[in-house]
Amino acid sequence: MIELPLITEIKSKAKALKKHIVLPDGIDERAIQAARRCVDQEIVRTTLIGNEQEIRDKSEKLNVSLDGIPVIDPSKSENKEEFAKLFAEIRKSKGITLEDAQKAMQQPLFFGAMMVRLGLADGSVAGSISTTGDVLRAGLQVIGLAEGITVVSSFFLMIFPNRLFSFADCAVVPDPTFEQLADIALTTAANHKKLTGEEPRVAMLSFSTKGSANHPLVEKVQKATELAKKKQPDLILDGEFQLDAAVVPKVGQSKAPGSVIQGNANVLIFPDLNAGNIGYKLTQRLAGAEAVGPIIQGLKKPAFDLSRGCSVDDIVNVAAINALMGAM
Ligand code: ACO
Repeated sequence: MIELPLITEIKSKAKALKKHIVLPDGIDERAIQAARRCVDQEIVRTTLIGNEQEIRDKSEKLNVSLDGIPVIDPSKSENKEEFAKLFAEIRKSKGITLEDAQKAMQQPLFFGAMMVRLGLADGSVAGSISTTGDVLRAGLQVIGLAEGITVVSSFFLMIFPNRLFSFADCAVVPDPTFEQLADIALTTAANHKKLTGEEPRVAMLSFSTKGSANHPLVEKVQKATELAKKKQPDLILDGEFQLDAAVVPKVGQSKAPGSVIQGNANVLIFPDLNAGNIGYKLTQRLAGAEAVGPIIQGLKKPAFDLSRGCSVDDIVNVAAINALMGAM
């Protein structure tokens, strides 16, 4: 498959940063192959985390050398006690005992997140065998929220040959409050600009355009739009819009003539996770967009999740994005 120019650009920026990314799903064959590719192409340095014997057996079976790729087995690591003590301290108010913390640190996801927290790695990428919930919980509990951020969320880069979007939130917050929705919009806009260089044009999506329907679900999007505008008046952001009014200039100009968006949005904020998750998969599966993500945003340091159906390329691409996001 031909690589998209944006991905090539992201990888080449990542190379210059020389970051170190841990792969807590290290026993997965795709993670082993991705680690090799990242190191061979000098995109990032990688460490595989997991049962050492299993990782070595699989790499032998795959005929993939582990030269230059450290393997850390949490159960054998000399850091395991120090990590457990620190985790017990962080989660003391939640009733976590040292014994609970020792068990948690046996899990590659939690161990990897602790390496990131302590600066022993710059970021982590998992999800090829772990569930989204487990990956996110390790990030939330060990790394924690970035300053000024109230909610961890995610976005996908949705790439067409001549058009590029960020869709959010498609993977994390099931039913955001209007305050959370406003924050998701502002965070996604900032990251869209950082990753693509494009000026964000944010549309807050609904089944109503500018009051065409009355319903509490519409009011939620209206309140989120108002709050986001108040928090960041310079941002090009508006709502509420039906999808067509957000992305088709003719429809946008007719349904919302006075809006700054004019049917030309490049950041789409979905009202909840049902809409966001279905929306990105429809665009990917039926409209043929390349979906890159989910890119987790809002943690102090980047800990990313992938779909369990991901490919080796997906892991490599997301590791490169992880390196870039951590540098921002
Ligand atoms: N932002 C900020 N903080 C959060 C968030 C969030 N989005 N979610 C939970 N927290 C907080 C909790 O309040 C808790 O705080 P506390 O420790 O101070 O009490 C802490 O983080 C840890 O939370 P947990 O209770 O361990 O996790 P929780 O049960 O709330 O689950 C999760 C969070 C995993 C993100 C959940 O919302 C979830 O499962 N979301 C859906 C994920 C999913 O299945 N997506 C599917 C699609 S993925 C795809 O298609 C690619």
